[in-house]
Amino acid sequence: MKSLLILNGPNLNLLGTRQTDIYGKVSLADIEAMCVQKATVSGCKVICQQSNFEGELVEAIHAARNRHDGIILNAGAYTHTSVALMDAISSVELPVVELHLSNIHAREEFRHKSFIAPVAVGQICGFGPAGYGLAIEAMLSHLEQA
Ligand code: DQA
Repeated sequence: MKSLLILNGPNLNLLGTRQTDIYGKVSLADIEAMCVQKATVSGCKVICQQSNFEGELVEAIHAARNRHDGIILNAGAYTHTSVALMDAISSVELPVVELHLSNIHAREEFRHKSFIAPVAVGQICGFGPAGYGLAIEAMLSHLEQA
């Protein structure tokens, strides 16, 4: 059975109460529960992790190497700044689907740049919490083709 890491970055622990006009009212716990449910239906396993610290996210990506078949990553604001996360993804050679709740391309210009995109299989953004389910489907479809 395929195993996926759902990795969320800074401030995403505040989902449900944070800037609800942009990110909605669904909490991270609810999103993670949806991911587990989606995994059951899709016949895969998911492990969910969140950290506000860049180094912890780097270590989670390293640790995923021998544990998971792919990573679904919402790196939050580190998306737009982190060469370290980009290098970590390149180093472990695991497929990554980049995910955002909001459409980063329709927002401020600094959010248009992603350090994750060049090392990701693809990017899903703008679909709110539903994006997590779409990302699981996209990753499983990618792994089937590989
Ligand atoms: C985000 C978009 C980022 O620009 C922002 O910094 C976040 C959340 C999203 O899910 O839409 O923290 O990754």
